[in-house]
Amino acid sequence: MVGGDENDLISVVRGSLGGRSEEFKAFGADFFSNNLYALLMHVYAALLGNNPTISTAELSALLPDFTQKHLIANQYCIFETKEELNQDTLNRLGGTIIIAKQVTGNGVLTFADIPSLLATELSTVKGKVVFSLRLVGIPPREGKDLFRACKNGLKKKGVPSRYTGNEREAAKPIVLHDDGLLDPKKGCELTIIREKHLFWIGRTVAAQNVKAYTLRDIGKPVRDTTVGLLPPKLAQILLNFGEYLANENAKKTLKSYVVFDPFCGTGVIPIEVLLRRNTILASDVSLKAVNGCEKNIEWTRKTYKILKKDAESIVWKQDATKPFDLKKHVPDIIVTEGSLGPALSDRPTIKDIEKFMRDSDDLAAGFLKNCKACLPNVPIVMTLPVWYAMKKMMPLKKIAETIDACGYKTVMPPHVSGWLPDRLSLLYRRSDQFVGREIVLLMPKK
Ligand SMILES: C[S@@+](CC[C@H](N)C(=O)[O-])C[C@H]1O[C@@H](n2cnc3c(N)ncnc32)[C@H](O)[C@@H]1O
Repeated sequence: MVGGDENDLISVVRGSLGGRSEEFKAFGADFFSNNLYALLMHVYAALLGNNPTISTAELSALLPDFTQKHLIANQYCIFETKEELNQDTLNRLGGTIIIAKQVTGNGVLTFADIPSLLATELSTVKGKVVFSLRLVGIPPREGKDLFRACKNGLKKKGVPSRYTGNEREAAKPIVLHDDGLLDPKKGCELTIIREKHLFWIGRTVAAQNVKAYTLRDIGKPVRDTTVGLLPPKLAQILLNFGEYLANENAKKTLKSYVVFDPFCGTGVIPIEVLLRRNTILASDVSLKAVNGCEKNIEWTRKTYKILKKDAESIVWKQDATKPFDLKKHVPDIIVTEGSLGPALSDRPTIKDIEKFMRDSDDLAAGFLKNCKACLPNVPIVMTLPVWYAMKKMMPLKKIAETIDACGYKTVMPPHVSGWLPDRLSLLYRRSDQFVGREIVLLMPKK
C-alpha cells in the first residue's frame, strides 16, 4: 500500500501551486484530478511466465488497483498501480519473471533519447558501469545500433562501461542479479518495448530469483515424484489467490493469514506459507506424506531461520473428506493442490480417464461437503486434475454442480476471465504433461 493518504497529496499539490486558491480553482476539478491521478499512479511492464493468463490474474489478485493497459506478444503486460513495486514484490509473485518501471524523462521520449536516458539512470554509479537493454519488438539490426550508441554515449561522457545481453537475447534474470543490473550503485537495464503506436521505456527494477527457487525446489530433504511435484512458483500463485479471497471475505486487508492445506503431500504450499511468516495447518491421508511434510518444514525453519513463535505449523494425518476439528486455529483460507489421481508414465486412454474422473469427482464432492460443514465461512483455492488423452482434453465433469450444491461460487480476481467459456477457472499445464491443473477460487455462498 502507498504510505500517507490522498489528502496529504492534495496538500502537496496545493503547496506546489503556492497556496493560490483562485488559481487552484481555475484549474478546474478535471485538471486537478487528472494530475493527482498521474502523480499517484506508476506504470510498470511485467514479463509474464509460461501461463500469461495466470500471471495476469495473480497480479490482479495481489494489486487491488491493477489496471492492465497493454499486453504485448502475450508476454509483456503493461499496467498501472499506485503501489511501489520492487524485488520484495517480485519475490512473492510466482508468475512474473521481470518487472520494469516506466521512465518518463522530461517529456515524450524517442529512440534517439535512449543513450542519454541510460546515462542519467547510471549517474548513481561510481566507476565502471554495467548496462543492458531488454528489447521487445525491435529488429536486431536496430538493436545492435542502439547497444553501440549507448556504449558510445557513455564513453563521450567519460563513463567506462560494459554490457550484458545483446540485441537478440536479453540478459537472463540470474545475470541481472549477479552482474548488479538491478542495483542502482552498479548498473542498469532499460526495458524498451515498441509495438505499433506504443513506445515504452522502463528501468528493470526486479527479476525472478532463480537460485532461491532451485533451493526450495530441489534442496529440501523429501521429494515425492509419485504424487506430482508442485512447483514452488505455482504454490505462490495459489497463495496469492488465497490471500486475495481471504481479504475479500474479510472485507479488509488482513495483516497475516492462517492457511490450511488438507492435501499437503510433502509440503510445497506449507513451505511457502512459512516463508511468508504465516501459520500453516497441514494434513494428508498418507502418513508417509505427513512425515515428509514435517521433515521439509523442519528444513525450512533451519534454512530460513523461521522460529515457531513467528510462524506456527501444525501437521497431522487426516482424510480430507472426514470432519475437521480446527477449533483452536480457524483458517482464513484453504489453499491446496488436490489429488491429481494416479501417477502416469504414459498417455492415458479415455477409458482410464473416465475411471480417474469418477474418483476425483467423488473426492472433490466429499471434500467440499466436509469443508462447508466444518469450516463454512472459509474460502478455498484448489487445483483439480485435467487429463489429456490423445485427441482431447478432459476436465472434471461434475465439478460445477458439486461446487454449487456444496454452497460455494467460483470467482476470479478483477478483469480475469476463465480458460473456457463455461468455466470460471484457470488452467496450469506444461505441454509435456498428461495431467494439467485446473485452478478454482471458491467463495462460500452467504
Ligand atoms: C497432488 S498431491 C499434493 C502434493 C503436495 N502439494 C506437495 O507439495 O507435495 C495430493 C495429495 O493428496 C493426498 N490425498 C489423497 N486423497 C486424500 C484424502 N482423501 N484426504 C487427504 N489427503 C488425500 C495424497 O496423499 C497426496 O499427498
